[in-house]
Amino acid sequence: MSEIPNLSHAFHRNVLAFYGHGEQNLGDKLSEFFGYITIPGAPTELCTIMTDAGSDKGSGWHNYTILYHFLFHERRNAVRSLFEVGIGTNFAEMPSNMGGNGIPGASLRGWRDYFPEAQIVGADADRRVLFSEERITTYYVDQLDGEAIDALWEAVPQSSFDVIIDDGLHAFQANSCFIRGSFDKVRDGGFYIIEDIVSQYDNLKNFDEFFKRFGASGALIQLPNPLANRRFRALARAHARSSAGTRPACAAPGPSAPPRPPPAPPESSGSAGARGSR
Ligand SMILES: C[S@@+](CC[C@H](N)C(=O)[O-])C[C@H]1O[C@@H](n2cnc3c(N)ncnc32)[C@H](O)[C@@H]1O
Repeated sequence: MSEIPNLSHAFHRNVLAFYGHGEQNLGDKLSEFFGYITIPGAPTELCTIMTDAGSDKGSGWHNYTILYHFLFHERRNAVRSLFEVGIGTNFAEMPSNMGGNGIPGASLRGWRDYFPEAQIVGADADRRVLFSEERITTYYVDQLDGEAIDALWEAVPQSSFDVIIDDGLHAFQANSCFIRGSFDKVRDGGFYIIEDIVSQYDNLKNFDEFFKRFGASGALIQLPNPLANRRFRALARAHARSSAGTRPACAAPGPSAPPRPPPAPPESSGSAGARGSR
């Protein structure tokens, strides 16, 4: 990996990698921790926005919106541009697809609602889900292909973004290829976030080593999983009650996704009502 440029001297860009597939290694301890602390306002407004839009970032299996809201709630009007790779597709042959009930474009529409001043740009390897709407444009990219990533950035008119999110193919090769070709598109002080890091030790180690060599300051963050945590099961139930209807999951695991962990023992008061994994 000697070709990785060290960019740390130039700007301060924040790299976060989220994972939350279910406490396979470090997670048990962190779940205990989240059982003791209070997260103010959870479920957050962003949880509701994303759940209503049909994205699984918000409640149930993933709880990424808790941290997103923590990071961005005071900058909602300041964020002017957000890019996300992974629009969401229902087509079963695509890795990391949403399953049959998913809503392609869900998170892009959720971001548009959450950041009222932002231009939202999305990209995906499935050309069938590309679309444009008010404040949303989308492009083709295969994040495993460096040339396709270069072509994407030639086509996108924005020269930099406040936030870049990788919610595409959940595999180290894809994540590392995309950040190499895209990190200089994060503006100074901006955020680069990778979702759904596969939470197996070897994979976490790959990311840890990659970030060190890449020279980016960053953090691998495991978020609480309501299926494995009593406190979050209660929050998920409360949120499910306040949100009408059932929401789709980004269901089918990609080729490198880990086996889904067994559900936590049920509480006497009932099940979590949480959605499935990606
Ligand atoms: C998890 S879904 C995105 C969900 C969406 N961000 C949301 O929260 O509503 C993942 C997407 O990644 C796309 N994808 C899979 N492999 C890819 C690749 N090599 N390059 C770019 N996108 C890819 C799939 O087509 C799918 O639409």
